[in-house]
Amino acid sequence: MEKLVIKGPTPLKGEVKINGAKNAAVAILPATLLIDGVCTIDNLPHISDVMISCEILEKLGAKITWNNKNSVTIDTRNIHTTKAPLDLTSKFRASYYILGSMLGRKKEIEVGMPGGCQLGARPIDQHVKGFEMLGAEVTVGNGTIFATADKLVGNSIYMDIVSVGATINIMLAATLAEGTTTIDNAAKEPHVVDVANFLNTMGADIRGAGTDVIKINGVKKLKGNATYSVVPDQIEAGTFMLAAVATRGDLLIKNCITKHLDSITAKIIEVGGIVEDYGDSLRVYCKKRPTKANIKTLPHPGFPTDLQPQMGVVLSLADGTSIINESIWESRFQYTQELNKMGAKITAQGKTAIFEGVEKLSGAPVYSTDLRAGAALIIAGTSAHGITEIYNLEHIDRGYENIEERFKSIGAQIERVKE
Ligand code: EPU
Repeated sequence: MEKLVIKGPTPLKGEVKINGAKNAAVAILPATLLIDGVCTIDNLPHISDVMISCEILEKLGAKITWNNKNSVTIDTRNIHTTKAPLDLTSKFRASYYILGSMLGRKKEIEVGMPGGCQLGARPIDQHVKGFEMLGAEVTVGNGTIFATADKLVGNSIYMDIVSVGATINIMLAATLAEGTTTIDNAAKEPHVVDVANFLNTMGADIRGAGTDVIKINGVKKLKGNATYSVVPDQIEAGTFMLAAVATRGDLLIKNCITKHLDSITAKIIEVGGIVEDYGDSLRVYCKKRPTKANIKTLPHPGFPTDLQPQMGVVLSLADGTSIINESIWESRFQYTQELNKMGAKITAQGKTAIFEGVEKLSGAPVYSTDLRAGAALIIAGTSAHGITEIYNLEHIDRGYENIEERFKSIGAQIERVKE
């Protein structure tokens, strides 16, 4: 078993470069299944979710060539099965994108029920509704999802809730469908736009991604034969921004799209931090104790749920009492119990948590309950006095490349230790 051992407190200082976005990469890799040809994807984060996605593609018949640890060339001309490996697809959430891609390419697919972080109920009814409206039959049961269609035909689809996964999945299935598909009440996250840009680069005709109406004019074939670079990770950038504030440090966060970070920038300024925007980089620093603030997580461009735990660390150290209302995932406050072991005073009930700010946190053994909880605990450990040990690193490794080396490069005293 591995753990991270952090000695704090350390104000984080220096420069950090943001990698490609996990949640774009795990959709773009399955999207290559729509291509009858070869493409190259650059700026892929080297994380376990990406490695598993590539393994699934290989099992379906794709030929994968690594150009370096962040770039891969994928040849999807010989996809020879419509049964995705159940063990691998059940390991993470984004395996559901194999459904949309393979329905588009082969009109049939079976995958294991998607796994991923335990954040509460994670229904897929909107994905299923979208596929059915395009003409597919979908059967969910016995731990698998089976989808089949004679042909897919474009339709007008109104999403009952704003869903990143369902928006992307319907976009994937509709790319090679006959006619035009319209998705109303679509998700607007940067990774939705990135997947549309990827598909368009490979030959698709998708318009409006980034607004709440996306129009997909079906094309006969995606030729590929192009290189695409994954968008910088909004959540990774936000994680380092909040790490700068929580540790009262000073970071230059390079290679980010600052517009994607507006909601985080606004909250950092509200709690007393300073953000300097240089277009493709941000300097974030905080010289004094942060002040209280209230947060409600919302779909983009609202405050992202994937930064809620990291913001929770800032608020646990703030002057005054703050409230976070989590409107996306019902079980995203599990990390608050771990922060309380470090001296935080947080009361979480249902979708609301009250943070009575404390002056300092103290190191303790804690457990990463999901990916972003893990990131929050690293920030907490770096801010806290004494030694923090973080367990369950497999969650963190799913989404952050080489996390301890990057925290070390900005001053954190952090080591990965085998027990
Ligand atoms: N929902 C439904 N029915 C559906 C789909 C979603 O009711 O068919 C509900 C969910 O239960 C949730 C809300 O709609 O309450 C939003 O879910 P969404 O579909 O947007 O989430 P997702 O696609 O499963 C992605 C990210 C998550 C991120 C959410 C919200 C990926 C692989 N995952 O999940 O990322 O929290 O969008 O932005 O893109 C993470 O990176 O740590 C992470 C959990």
